[in-house]
Amino acid sequence: MTISPSTDRRTALALGLAGLATSAAPALAATARTALTTPPPGAAASPRRRVRLADGWRFALGHAADMDRDFDFGRYQRTYAKPGFDVSPATQPDFDDSAWASVRVPHDWAVELPYAPPKAPVPKDKEDMAAGHGFRAIGRDFPQNSVGWYRCKLPVGAGDKGRAIWLEFDGVFRDCKVFVNGYEAGGSASGYAPFRVDIADFLDYDGGPNQLTLRVDASLGEGWFYEGAGIYRHVDLVSAAPIHVPQWGTCVRSTVDGSGAQIAIATTLANAAEVAGTAQLRHRVLAPDGREVAAIAAQPAATLAPGAQTTLDHALALPAPQLWSPETPRLYTLETSVLVDGQEVDRTQTRFGIRTLSFDGTHGFAVNGKPVKLLGVCNHQDHAGVGTAIPDALHAWRVAQTQSMGANAWRSAHNPPAQALLDICDATGMMMVAETRLNTTNPEAMDELDRMILSSRNHPAIILWSVGNEEGHQGTERGRRISAQLVARCKQLDPTRLTTQAMDKGWDGGAADAVDVVGFNYRTDKIPAWRQRHPGKPVIGTETASTVATRGAYANDAAAHVVRAYDTEHPWWASTAEEWWQIVAAEPGIAGGFIWTGFDYRGEPTPYAQFPSVSSYFGAMDLCGFPKDNYYYYRAWWRRDAPLVHLLPHWNWAGREGQPIEVWVHGNCAEVELVLNGRSLGRKAMPRNGHLAWMVPYAPGRIEARGYNQGRLAARDSRVTAGRPAALRLSADRTRLAADGGDTAAVQVEVIDAAGNLVSTADTALGFSLSGAARIIGLGNGNPTSTEPDKGHARRAFNGLAQALVQSAGAAGAARLTVTAAGLAPASLDLFFHA
Ligand code: GAL
Repeated sequence: MTISPSTDRRTALALGLAGLATSAAPALAATARTALTTPPPGAAASPRRRVRLADGWRFALGHAADMDRDFDFGRYQRTYAKPGFDVSPATQPDFDDSAWASVRVPHDWAVELPYAPPKAPVPKDKEDMAAGHGFRAIGRDFPQNSVGWYRCKLPVGAGDKGRAIWLEFDGVFRDCKVFVNGYEAGGSASGYAPFRVDIADFLDYDGGPNQLTLRVDASLGEGWFYEGAGIYRHVDLVSAAPIHVPQWGTCVRSTVDGSGAQIAIATTLANAAEVAGTAQLRHRVLAPDGREVAAIAAQPAATLAPGAQTTLDHALALPAPQLWSPETPRLYTLETSVLVDGQEVDRTQTRFGIRTLSFDGTHGFAVNGKPVKLLGVCNHQDHAGVGTAIPDALHAWRVAQTQSMGANAWRSAHNPPAQALLDICDATGMMMVAETRLNTTNPEAMDELDRMILSSRNHPAIILWSVGNEEGHQGTERGRRISAQLVARCKQLDPTRLTTQAMDKGWDGGAADAVDVVGFNYRTDKIPAWRQRHPGKPVIGTETASTVATRGAYANDAAAHVVRAYDTEHPWWASTAEEWWQIVAAEPGIAGGFIWTGFDYRGEPTPYAQFPSVSSYFGAMDLCGFPKDNYYYYRAWWRRDAPLVHLLPHWNWAGREGQPIEVWVHGNCAEVELVLNGRSLGRKAMPRNGHLAWMVPYAPGRIEARGYNQGRLAARDSRVTAGRPAALRLSADRTRLAADGGDTAAVQVEVIDAAGNLVSTADTALGFSLSGAARIIGLGNGNPTSTEPDKGHARRAFNGLAQALVQSAGAAGAARLTVTAAGLAPASLDLFFHA
């Protein structure tokens, strides 16, 4: 468990958590990454208590078909007959869970399951869900692996009596039932939409252990990609005054004109007491530097009947707002206080950004009136070593890697993004297209849409709501009707944003008529003619490219499931990076495109679709976030102000001396010269949005690309024929981390020769050990055919690289990661975790 800075000291003392409360707060403030979870500068501690439930969980697999192995769940049929009794002993406080595993949340149990290639071939006309989900032994064929139980003691004490108490789940995969002291308190069918569970009625305030239990059933999937299983996003306990602002109860909107920004605030007040009450609202707006820049003094009191809610509207003006944009992600904070009898009883902080967005069929997209091309990536939430349970710091690292490629936008496919990711996007200027999972209008789908919008509409990063992706009915009148309903709901909850839908056909009617910005999945070459037929209608490439590549591989090998990383390989529906980007770059009216995908992800192992391909090959980066060569194509043309040349392939072709090797250079310099062992192979002009290629007779040594602008050397890149593996080299994105139990470093392991050159063909077996204040939470190497465990202490390098994710164990101090390999010099890296 981590205690947020808003945990008041009195309650922390009551719960015996004072040590944590005092040590955790400064640690959280210590780095830019974790600063997002601290109150902004200028904000004081709130009378509300928010506790992140990260540590202290126990986990065990249940069983989807055998009650004996599912903690008797369902045996006594009293779940729905007599609430609170006999649903399963595992929901009761006195159940002995000491044999269950200790886990930390976020947690994905599927990433630890064995692989299970299908026994019988899948009929050609059916989607192969085992492949889709990455061949993990989960789903209806594996009832023994598909139900997970979680238990955690809730930190609640006498001081919470009479208060509103609820749990906030940001995502649980999936179909989960939430029990408190044996009572079913709530749950969620959706594996992706956030949800809240009120628990005040079921708690014991007189010192009893308060038992939270979840039964999570991942037997059914929601997607055709790896989806993980379990509590893979954050869980918070919130204890607030009886009259309080409920979850998602604040909505901040802004408009900007010549006189500055007008801020409209809608605040919901809820009364959880059994008696009527009155309360006043007060607001302060804090500028990005924490200074108060506007305020609304206490407003006339509102009276709330027991259990009632009311929404109050306020407005204020900011004459000279600092605008949010991808380059200047300035964030304001709205601090809302609830006063009862003049005393502050609740306070919330809501970050927001002030910016205008526009989509235009002729001029494309603009932020604050300035044209911006959407240089986008689509991503699933999945990473090497951890599956869907991505720590916040790893989200931040993934965003940083993506921005370093030049991307400014992210499409959360095909589900709402994590709040942690949205916070990072707000703070770093990464724009986001948030997508709902279900394109239908049944109550569940409408509720999921509501939850996505209500939870996320204050995030300035979000630029569009997407209401669907490649739906079977997309091009039909029914498809139009369904999307029109979803769009209407989006507008009702958030009139400030436009909507889109990702479509792979049927753009001349159907859902395309219902959304504001039409989304093309692939078929980018059809967009120019479509624009002629639909002048003025905004359009984006919701999915582009789908190029496939194995990082660091330069020859196709179907038997080994290896795809070369030149920009030439893609499935029939897709295109190369160069093909789609040249179309979108040339037409200002196309607002931009989102490549499928930024990162490889588990499942959908296109093009082979068979074991042992267990992850996708689509990423510009592999599953670890190591760049493939196409990463540099995008970086060259998406960051044209930064001179770049990038050369491929590696230069280790023993046995092929004298034979031609296909050499490519990605880059944005005007001219590129290729030099082999000191001898120039000539200069060529770089075609705009293109690449250069040479056929070079192989000779070991050094091959170098030199980029020139106006005749001057502006960038260079080289590959050296490496010797045998001799040593290992470790580096991390950061070596100073917060001792908060969650902060995580991405450590890169390189296999190098005696001269320090990367051995880019090495698949050396590596051993990992760690001493000190940290733990290894996952290992990876980016090989789409690797079926080695993600957890543990051993992993092979793949094409010279591997990754270890090292996380704070919660205490301040140093930690040393040591990586060994037979016959090689070991390497160590010191990491420091500060309070
Ligand atoms: C699209 C789909 C994505 C992914 C991609 C692969 O059809 O929306 O989820 O499957 O193709 O190219």
